[in-house]
Amino acid sequence: LTAAATALALTVTTGAAFAACEDGETVIKFAHVTNADKHPKGIAASLFAERVNAEMNGKVCVEVFPNSTLYDDDQVLEAMLQGDVQMAAPSLSKFEAFTKVFNIFDLPFMFKNMRAVDAFQNSETGQAMKASMERRGLRGLEFWHSGLKQMSANKPLLMPEDAKGLKFRVQPSDVLVAQMEALGASPQPMAFAEVYGALQTGVVDGQENTWSNSYGQKYYEVQDGITETNHGVLDYLVVVGVDFWDGLDADVRTQLETILREVTVERNAAVEQVEAEARQAILDAGGTIRELTPEQLTAWQEAMKPVWAKFAEGIGQENIDAAQAFNA
Ligand code: LMR
Repeated sequence: LTAAATALALTVTTGAAFAACEDGETVIKFAHVTNADKHPKGIAASLFAERVNAEMNGKVCVEVFPNSTLYDDDQVLEAMLQGDVQMAAPSLSKFEAFTKVFNIFDLPFMFKNMRAVDAFQNSETGQAMKASMERRGLRGLEFWHSGLKQMSANKPLLMPEDAKGLKFRVQPSDVLVAQMEALGASPQPMAFAEVYGALQTGVVDGQENTWSNSYGQKYYEVQDGITETNHGVLDYLVVVGVDFWDGLDADVRTQLETILREVTVERNAAVEQVEAEARQAILDAGGTIRELTPEQLTAWQEAMKPVWAKFAEGIGQENIDAAQAFNA
């Protein structure tokens, strides 16, 4: 099959949205796991592709594969090193096999909002993190935001004790595993695409994620309710293979990086709105959202905070202090 025929075939079979690539164009397959149009990452990836395909037509063609149609996050980085996919934006919790520097983002109650996350990432410490996997063949280009995470289960979660003994799906991160263990819960690392089914069949009792993912994946259908804990951050790194990226002509690379930067600034500025719309959409669809009293919230913070001490040495206390300064 020619690249164009392959693209067309995939469009038909997977619903992946991209213009057929032309002969002679450098093809960038961009694989991700969320939906393409109602999710901060999906919207950003679609916009990046649209702009590149319009502004760099004839030179570069971006094909976006949303909804885990090409790879799950646990395969995508290895596939990238093999040259089978050129771009991805896994959450920062998914890089542990390559670097531990992103552990800081998984510490519970580390950042009070996405503005603090943004400010920290734009600091010298945050920017240096993008290069932490060069030795392993991966380069971070930009951080993309989503939002704060909320907890849900098949029973009401109002106090941390309510989570005791329950099985929670987590992303594959030692910090998130420790966070659930701190609650006396049982963490189950699992691919994103499998979570809805696992909740539905009772393989796990609960999960933690953003409003946009809880809405996009319809978790509210198979959970008792979602508790507004805002206890953690879900954020992404747009990542490429060093060999692929350095192999591009300099002018092509510069233009791609310029478009990506503009898309990043535009979409990161819009995440709070996208998340708020997803929260409202859950309510409109009949989902239950529980807000916590200040006392209940403090109880969750106290239950989860001991996790920090376990990872402080690996992360570096100076990095934790630097990040905390942005909460002020
Ligand atoms: C998850 O696995 O829960 C998230 O990383 C999915 C995503 O990319 O938003």
